[in-house]
Amino acid sequence: MATNPKRSVEDNRTNEKSTSSEPDAMSAVELLEEDHSEVESLFEEYQSLEQDSAKEALALKICMMLQVHAQIEEEIFYPEARNAITKPELIDEAIVEHASAKQLIGEIEAMEVGDNLRDAKVKVLGEQIRHHIEEEEAELFTEVENSEMDLNALGRRMAERKTELLQQVVEEGETR
Ligand SMILES: [Fe+2]
Ligand SMILES: [Fe+2]
Repeated sequence: MATNPKRSVEDNRTNEKSTSSEPDAMSAVELLEEDHSEVESLFEEYQSLEQDSAKEALALKICMMLQVHAQIEEEIFYPEARNAITKPELIDEAIVEHASAKQLIGEIEAMEVGDNLRDAKVKVLGEQIRHHIEEEEAELFTEVENSEMDLNALGRRMAERKTELLQQVVEEGETR
């Protein structure tokens, strides 16, 4: 097939422009994996803290991040994945794991400063979350990557929703 050299130069220029306008666009899987490693390091950081007020603040930050993460998965990622993968039962399992984590998150958020069980609850939550992350990354994301899903478009929708939810958290904090 004959190609027009002038045309292809112009096409390249257009492509460069469209990618540079979104320097940090991430695919759905990249976005979720970034959240996973961020929250895993916060759980590690918690173990190194001694001061009760610092522990409380970090525990609340972890809970907030997990809730935003779970919400974008449940609202956007899981429904799309359920329709596209060959093992939709992975989504059911993930939703059950989220529900159990939310129970513990609710208990941690309701704790008074100095509660003796905070360390234990944060530790158990961390173990549950690590297990959940392992399953998502090893099984679910592999299925998703082998599917027909448009992971870049989905990543954009999820990033937008995440920004919106984080903004809500800030606003709720200000009105409290
Ligand atoms: Fe996740
Ligand atoms: Fe999840």
